[in-house]
Amino acid sequence: MGVISISGTKGGTGKSTVAMGVTIWISKLRPKPILLIDGDLHVRSVELKMCPVRDVTLTDVLAGKKSWEDAVYACELESEGELLYPRLAVLPAGGRFLPPMKADSHLAYLDLTRRIFSRMISDLRGKFDTIIIDTPASISYEHIILIAVADQVLYVCEPNDDSIKATLATAQGLMRLMEIEPAGVVLNRVPGSIDVKPWLEKVSKIAPLLGTVPDDDSVGDAFRDNLPVVAAYPDSPASLAMKEVAKKLLRLKLKPAELPKRLDLAIKKVAARVEAERT
Ligand SMILES: Nc1ncnc2c1ncn2[C@@H]1O[C@H](COP(=O)(O)OP(=O)(O)OP(=O)(O)O)[C@@H](O)[C@H]1O
Ligand SMILES: [Mg+2]
Repeated sequence: MGVISISGTKGGTGKSTVAMGVTIWISKLRPKPILLIDGDLHVRSVELKMCPVRDVTLTDVLAGKKSWEDAVYACELESEGELLYPRLAVLPAGGRFLPPMKADSHLAYLDLTRRIFSRMISDLRGKFDTIIIDTPASISYEHIILIAVADQVLYVCEPNDDSIKATLATAQGLMRLMEIEPAGVVLNRVPGSIDVKPWLEKVSKIAPLLGTVPDDDSVGDAFRDNLPVVAAYPDSPASLAMKEVAKKLLRLKLKPAELPKRLDLAIKKVAARVEAERT
């Protein structure tokens, strides 16, 4: 398959729910190793629900202190003593993000992070057939890198204008700056009581629609027990909707991203814009 980042710009749209859901379904549907990277160093939903309390994490890898090999763990979810998803591994987020080593300028910092990420992802590609990255809300440098390393991005929106407009702006900006293509969009938390058609039209401006996930109490019930809904309630409406999204993702033909080229492109475009504004 390839590398897919899950993004949604606004907080709480269901990025982590969808990231965990589609990863679990892909691991069940495709007999190949799959890795879920928890890229949210602040909320750490994936880490808490799938592989709690680990010594070595993404934070250590990004800081250049540890190798990614030390930070990849089997997903710990089990039933009656057996691993539920034996093909699924997790790279936990860890704590606060620390700039890698002693970067003495912004450019040195960018260069260092770019090298660490490129190496890590290219090594991981050799080990895992599919890599899904859960990213945090909003746009920060660490967020952009987590998206730039992906072949394509899956956007998760809710049926409201705030969420859809913010995601559309992000998708257009990523395309313009780094030519990052969307894999598709998922409309999450759709209440049974609304007419979904106008919302489907709006989200389809972001990317091709890969599915709608209903607003489903099972998701919150599972969250409170610190479990992904697909593990706690595999036959719930939200879980089954994510299975359909996973099937569509499996049909995508992804082209591996060239991270150094992408970031160079973005830096050049930003520099050109700053220069144009100055003159
Ligand atoms: N389909 C759904 N039905 C009902 N509740 C949902 C659904 N999807 C997500 N939720 C609930 O919404 C909340 C936010 O979900 P989640 O953590 O997946 O969002 P997020 O976009 O990853 O948030 P953040 O921006 O903090 O990373 C959780 O409490 C979750 O239980
Ligand atoms: Mg999240």
